[in-house]
Formats: sequence, C-alpha cells, structure tokens
Amino acid sequence: MEPYRIKAVEPLPRTTRPQREAALRRVHYNLFELRAEEVTIDLLTDSGTGALSSGQLAAAMSSDESYAGSASFHRFRDAVEELTSYPHILPVHQGRAAERILFSTLVGPGKLTLSNTHFDTTRANVELAGGEARDLPCPQARDLDGAGPFKGNIDIEALRAVLEGPEASRVVLVLMTVTNNGCGGQPVSMANLAETAAVCRRHGVPLFLDAARFAENAWLVTRREAAYRGRTPRQVAQEAFRLADGCLMSAKKDGIVHIGGFLGLRDSALAQRCELLLIATEGFPTYGGLAGRDLDMMALGLAEALDPGHLASREQAAAHLAGRARAAGVGIVEPPGLHAIYLNAGRLLPHIPAHRFPGQALACQLYLEGGIRSAELGSLYLGREDEHGEPVISAPYELVRLALPRRVYTRGHLDHVGDVLARIADDPGGVPGYRITGQAPILRHFRVRLEPAHDMAPASLRGGRV
Ligand code: F0G
Repeated sequence: MEPYRIKAVEPLPRTTRPQREAALRRVHYNLFELRAEEVTIDLLTDSGTGALSSGQLAAAMSSDESYAGSASFHRFRDAVEELTSYPHILPVHQGRAAERILFSTLVGPGKLTLSNTHFDTTRANVELAGGEARDLPCPQARDLDGAGPFKGNIDIEALRAVLEGPEASRVVLVLMTVTNNGCGGQPVSMANLAETAAVCRRHGVPLFLDAARFAENAWLVTRREAAYRGRTPRQVAQEAFRLADGCLMSAKKDGIVHIGGFLGLRDSALAQRCELLLIATEGFPTYGGLAGRDLDMMALGLAEALDPGHLASREQAAAHLAGRARAAGVGIVEPPGLHAIYLNAGRLLPHIPAHRFPGQALACQLYLEGGIRSAELGSLYLGREDEHGEPVISAPYELVRLALPRRVYTRGHLDHVGDVLARIADDPGGVPGYRITGQAPILRHFRVRLEPAHDMAPASLRGGRV
C-alpha cells in the first residue's frame, strides 16, 4: 500500500468527450499545448509533479531566506555531501542548468561526450556547447520484450572501443544516466557502473552521473543485483556517487521538489570554473537560482526518495499499471521500471506508418477516451520527414510514456488508465494517424502542430457524427 495518508486533496478536472475533442482540435493535437485543467490524469512527466510531504512544507516554513550563507543552504549542502561524498555542491534551478554550466566548461567544438543515453536536454546542451553527444546503450536495450534486469547499462565494449580508438582524444566526459530515461526507464547495474568507472580511470576521462532518478536506480539494484541484496537504497546510492567524479542532478524527480537541482563535483579547479558561470547565470553559490525554502525541501525530499517504503510502493504502482496494459494486450518495454511505463504503440497500431506517428495517435486517443495526458517517444520526437511528409528518419520504436508522478495518483487512478487502455485496445483499427502541419527545426515535439490524416480518421475526428 502507499506509505502515506492524504492530508490535502485537489479535485480532479473532469471533461466531457466533446470538450476533449474541441480541446484537441484547438491545440492542433499537441498535448503539450493543453491547459492542465483540461487533463484528468496527467502522466506527461514525473518531473516537478510530485506531492510535497508535511515535513517538506514544515521545513519550508522554517527556511532561511538570507541572500548569502543561509542556514537552508548549509542544511542542503550537508545532506547532499553526506549522500554523494562530493566536496563541491552547486545548487541550480533545475537539471538542465547544471548541464549548461558543466558542458560550457568542459565541452567545446569537436569534443565528444559518451553516455548510456543522453536525455534530450542533455544532448541539446552538449550540442549547444559545440560538442557531439553519442549514445552507447547496451545491446539488450534493443529488445523491448526482453526481461533483462539492467537494460539501462552502457555498452562497455563500445565504450572501450571509442576510448582506445582514433577518437579517444575528443572524449571529454562519460555520463551515466540513472535510471536510463531515454531507454525505457531501465536501471544501470552497479557492476556496469564500476566497470565504466574503471575504464574511465584507465583513460583519464571523468565519469559523471546524470542522477535524476538515483534513488529509483538504487532500489532496482537492491532488487535485481545479487551482490546488493540486503543493502539499503541509501547505501547503494552512496556507492554509486562515490564511483563517479561528479553528478548532474535534476531534483524535480528523486528530490521530490517542484523546482531544484545541483551540480556535484570532486575537482576543485573545475568547481571554481563552474562557480563563475553559476554566479553569472543562476545566482550566488549559496542559493543558485533557488529560494531557501527550495533548498530545505530538496534536502528532505532526497531523503524521502530513498525510503524503502516509498520505493516499494513506486515499484508496485508501476507493476500494477504494467499488468493492466499487458492484460489489455498492449505491449510495454519490459521489464517495467519505476518512474514510467512505456507503451509499444507501434505494435498496437500496425496500420499507422511511422510518418503518421502511431505514438502520437495513441497519446491523442488516451486523451480523447479518458482525459489522460502522456508523452510520445517515437518518430514525432526522434524522426524527420522531407518537404512532402515522406519519412527520412524514423525512430527505432514508436513508444508512449506514461510517467508516474511521485505520491500523486492512487490505484484507482491507475485502474482508470488501465480501463481506457483496454477500450482502445479493443478496436485499435479505429485510431487515426496524424500528419504534421507546422513544426520547429529542433525539439519539434514541444511546439508541433498536427491534424488527423484524413485517409485514416474515423468520423468523430473529421467533424462528422460521433
Ligand atoms: N536528465 C534526465 C535523465 C531527465 O529525465 C531530465 C528531465 C533532465 C536530465 C533535465 O532535468 O528537467 O530538471 O532540467 N526529464 C523530464 C522528463 C523533463 O519528463 O523526463 P530538468
């Protein structure tokens, strides 16, 4: 059961189907453009969407809002240093600010970063600094149905090949994303992390963690890696941080705050260079773009995220939703992790080709049928077409992510999602594809405009009778 009781509640927005049809038309079938009050169950992201605890709110009330040297900063710093062992902790307003500061310091034109998978803003920040971001996921990651316990791992052989090959001198850092959000939320094993650290050390390349979901990764290690059975998530997390030279942290996930993050560093010279950028662009190093109350809530959130009761309940919620999806005949990326379920829309909607966006089609249908908001991770996100709308690049898989905000939704809410999925899976042939009518040159999924592809649209979306 959920390891909390509920003290404050918020009514769920309710809409009718005609309202949802009108809303979808108005936003050009782009779910990012919906107003939140038009969404009943919001599974767009687990980032910054968690519920605060009474302890966090109490800490916020007793925070210190001094510009410099606040008590809140020192409490935050002590908590993060105890967890990570890094002597330099730079608070920032969210993960991508840490990315920008670190990469503008280490990455430059012609430089290369290697990762199990870069998150999209991480890649964008490497590229904005003039570098190339290369993903080296392990081969098991390609088998969506495989039950491998650590499909988030980096491909050690591929990593070695780059570091021993002609491109070695271009590599400025290796970044391990835990858990691997771009690869189905799959965890990274401690064995893989330790081996990566050893390879990096041998080649003199610093290793960083993208630690957004460090607690969830640690939990899955205690559950799936024999050598770590019986260890606490905190012990595993501490060991993971110790293996690396620093971390980028978006505390909006496993810090359970609405805003916040930090950059953790071992190297004093590097920390000094990053601190200059921090002061110029985020704020003085004892607040880094945050209020004292944010720092206090983050310190507590990081501890609450490591509570085994919290993590077990997350695992069970994800497993429950995964079970409902499988029972409805909808394939998912196996095995389920903790922060999200990734639906295999390509398999459910084989009548929709990649350039008619089966992932987006399923995401729109989830909204239309049940007021559920999700995120497409398929060819709308990763693909490209020519001027006639014909595919140039398609995504390897057409996925839809149902992210689970922390401490927000109950089993009843997840059962609603399961019911809606089952209704859609009953008649998948009726789900239309979509065509792009307007898009931006990069990160297009945020602002894209679409319309149902009329050759495939059922009457309700053509403006005919429902
Ligand atoms: N790294 C990972 C692995 C992430 O998942 C995210 C954000 C970031 C970095 C950037 O952090 O948003 O605080 O600037 N992921 C969110 C998501 C947006 O929905 O998965 P941020």
